[in-house]
Amino acid sequence: MLYSCSLYSVRNRTISTKAARLLVGSTIIAVTLAGCSKDNTPVATPIVQNTAPDTTNSVELVLPATRIEYSNIHLLPAHFIADNNVRYTEPADNPVTNAGATLGRVLFYDKKLSLNNSTACASCHKQELAFTDNKRLSDGFMHGLTRRHSMSLNNVAYVEARGNGGGAVQGFFWDTRAATLEIQALMPIQDKTEMGMTLDSLTKRLAQTDYYKSLFAAAFGTPDVTSDRIAKSLAQFVRSLISYRSKYDAGLQSNFQNFTAQEQRGRTIFNNRDGNCSSCHATRTQLIMDDPKNNGLDAASTTDLGRAEVTNNARDAGLFRVPSLRNIALTAPYMHDGRFATLEEVVEHYNSGVKPHPNLSRELRADGQQNTPRRLNLSDADKQALVAFLKTLTDIEFTHDTRFSNPFIAQ
Ligand code: HEC
Ligand code: HEC
Repeated sequence: MLYSCSLYSVRNRTISTKAARLLVGSTIIAVTLAGCSKDNTPVATPIVQNTAPDTTNSVELVLPATRIEYSNIHLLPAHFIADNNVRYTEPADNPVTNAGATLGRVLFYDKKLSLNNSTACASCHKQELAFTDNKRLSDGFMHGLTRRHSMSLNNVAYVEARGNGGGAVQGFFWDTRAATLEIQALMPIQDKTEMGMTLDSLTKRLAQTDYYKSLFAAAFGTPDVTSDRIAKSLAQFVRSLISYRSKYDAGLQSNFQNFTAQEQRGRTIFNNRDGNCSSCHATRTQLIMDDPKNNGLDAASTTDLGRAEVTNNARDAGLFRVPSLRNIALTAPYMHDGRFATLEEVVEHYNSGVKPHPNLSRELRADGQQNTPRRLNLSDADKQALVAFLKTLTDIEFTHDTRFSNPFIAQ
């Protein structure tokens, strides 16, 4: 039996462990109370969607006094520029500017982008984890789970440039469904699980937020908040996330003098016939390839059809984006559904576990066999060497770069 609650108890008691996180200081956010029990303990019903102004952010926006440099961020080492397979690309109507990417950074970290002010892009794309999270599936704004594992963000500006003229499939997300980063940026915001916002409420909410006036004005000339500008500035920030300072990059510039014997061995396996990973994880800048592929995770596609969900073509079933392997040691768990917890499990998959999916990519089939998966027969030392090589792709300067860090500091 429920009684009506006294305000005092609502303010000062923990409603339940689940609802407690909604109590910030003495302010109540987004809780409907069904009533109170006899001793005045509040009983919460499922949380209502909160569209009230944000009171959760007891944080302050702090941006550097001098402009951060983003617009020259793609002035990169020679091996980036000399990689004929890839090119840094930005649309003519949305070049990365310092003010645009600065606005994008603030938006990326701002929980106001979600309906109940709980979730920012950065909630699922954390800098210390190379902009992914460490969950199999991510937590949305109402704790619903996303359908796929969050993707790490690095060198995504190079994805669009692939396959010019070669008929290659380009696009973002595991199934390549978003053609540009501008289109991509508005999708999580409106996703029912991820952030649950409408563009209309978002533009209104941001227009009422003081710090956005000057940020939009600096980026686009006037303080007007539009969804097009939100998309453009988020895309600029995401394009600026370029990782190029790993041990592997230093190796590319020094003939790999800096590698241990084990890392060298791993690199050889990765690039040569022994492992032939580079036939798909191909380019130096991105370690990705243009076309989505099937890497034999399952013998049949049932719940997630990957690329076929976009094309409705059965031959695309089970094809997924070849993801960047940069910072891979930081981005566990692995694959579109986060099924592998460690790099050792991933290597064992390629060594002995590839399944005969009807669309299994050619690179992973045994020579001349229609649909027989290849077996690598790597020794334990080979497998360890491959993992050691993958760890050289970690770029600590990227995960600590203040240009990409959270501009909101807790008070
Ligand atoms: C609730 C977790 C969550 C939130 C919030 C979220 N993302 Fe993601 N992000 C994901 C997941 C999961 C994927 C992969 C989805 C898929 O493939 O279907 C993804 C994929 C992406 C990709 C594709 C990368 C690539 O290489 O193709 C980009 C870019 C991205 N997110 C940017 C953003 C931005 C910008 C925001 C904020 C506006 C955001 N994300 C908010 C979970 C999230
Ligand atoms: C046929 C092309 C192909 C080959 C060859 C290949 N991969 Fe992959 N790799 C993929 C695809 C596609 C995915 C994503 C699959 C998915 O999630 O459904 C992937 C995913 C991965 C991941 C997980 C990435 C993440 O962010 O979760 C790692 C690590 C990886 N591959 C390492 C390797 C190694 C090491 C080799 C060589 C032994 C290799 N790959 C060979 C296509 C390939």
